[in-house]
Amino acid sequence: MNELGRLEDLPADYVAALRELNLVPLWPNLRAVMPAGTPRPRTQATHWSYEALRPLLLKAGTLTPIEKAERRVLVLANPGHGLDKMQASAAMYLGMQLLLPGEWAPSHRHTPNAVRMVVEGEGAWTTVDGERCEMKRGDLILTPTGLWHEHGHDGDEPVVWLDVLDLPLVYTLEASYHVNGTRQTVRPGRGDCAYARGGVVPTPVFGRSGRAYPMLRYPWTETRAALEALAADRPELDAVQVTYVNPETGGDAENILGFHALMLRPGQTLKLPARSPAMVFHLIEGSADVAVEAQRFVLAEADTCCAPGYSAVTLVNRSAGTPAFVFVADESPLHRKLGLYEDRG
Ligand SMILES: [Fe+2]
Repeated sequence: MNELGRLEDLPADYVAALRELNLVPLWPNLRAVMPAGTPRPRTQATHWSYEALRPLLLKAGTLTPIEKAERRVLVLANPGHGLDKMQASAAMYLGMQLLLPGEWAPSHRHTPNAVRMVVEGEGAWTTVDGERCEMKRGDLILTPTGLWHEHGHDGDEPVVWLDVLDLPLVYTLEASYHVNGTRQTVRPGRGDCAYARGGVVPTPVFGRSGRAYPMLRYPWTETRAALEALAADRPELDAVQVTYVNPETGGDAENILGFHALMLRPGQTLKLPARSPAMVFHLIEGSADVAVEAQRFVLAEADTCCAPGYSAVTLVNRSAGTPAFVFVADESPLHRKLGLYEDRG
């Protein structure tokens, strides 16, 4: 490829004169911002062990009271972006959040979209837009952009969940802010009841729900049952996968990030194609190896890892007897909406 001129090739007084007028020559930087053939992601394949981080998260519970933290979170930061950037990929933020018995994380709303994947503990709840969502292992709870949400805990063990937000993107767009609120009044009607069965939706007097986010809690028991039913119905199917959708529209559950669940059959190797969006894998049940190009991670239960976009990923369930269940978050909705989505096979 044609070598382009470097900044050092230009007279220093010329560069200084440009900078004085807030001008920059493109050609010394052109290849860096638009490399040939494939992007050079800063996102690095990274693994976060739950066993390793859990004691540090619990220690945060003794070091920092909830009033001093508001949200007691350890951020799963990608070293490729620099830890201080607090991002897992270009568009995804990940955090492990701890709530202790009796604590309350006060009501607020913000422009970034969030979801919570419950990792451990019983008795916590999240109220979203007046809907009280109980939190059990593997449940996915949406707190989409602009909706009030708060967390409480009536149980007697620590509760931990994985937060997934599109914060890095919304922050880059200079559109990230929050508003504090007061304790919400819980209203009747729960999306996880109204939409508990696939194929039918509530239509009181022939009307459809006008809510942008009609379902806020996706119980793991239902998602797991859907995966098992799909695996039994389609024994030849390689990727036993479901996607969390808005049950009224069939579209993605949230606007920017996509959320999916995968079942790996006992002994299965699943090759995922190199696609443009970055991906995050969180192991709900079982054990799985995740190979991202040449790197390989062994995921134990509640472990999390990420893969940059444009990389091929292979998942292996080494157990010959039990399936593995994996929660996947990715940037697919964003890439599709922007027309950037690629599947390179
Ligand atoms: Fe929040």
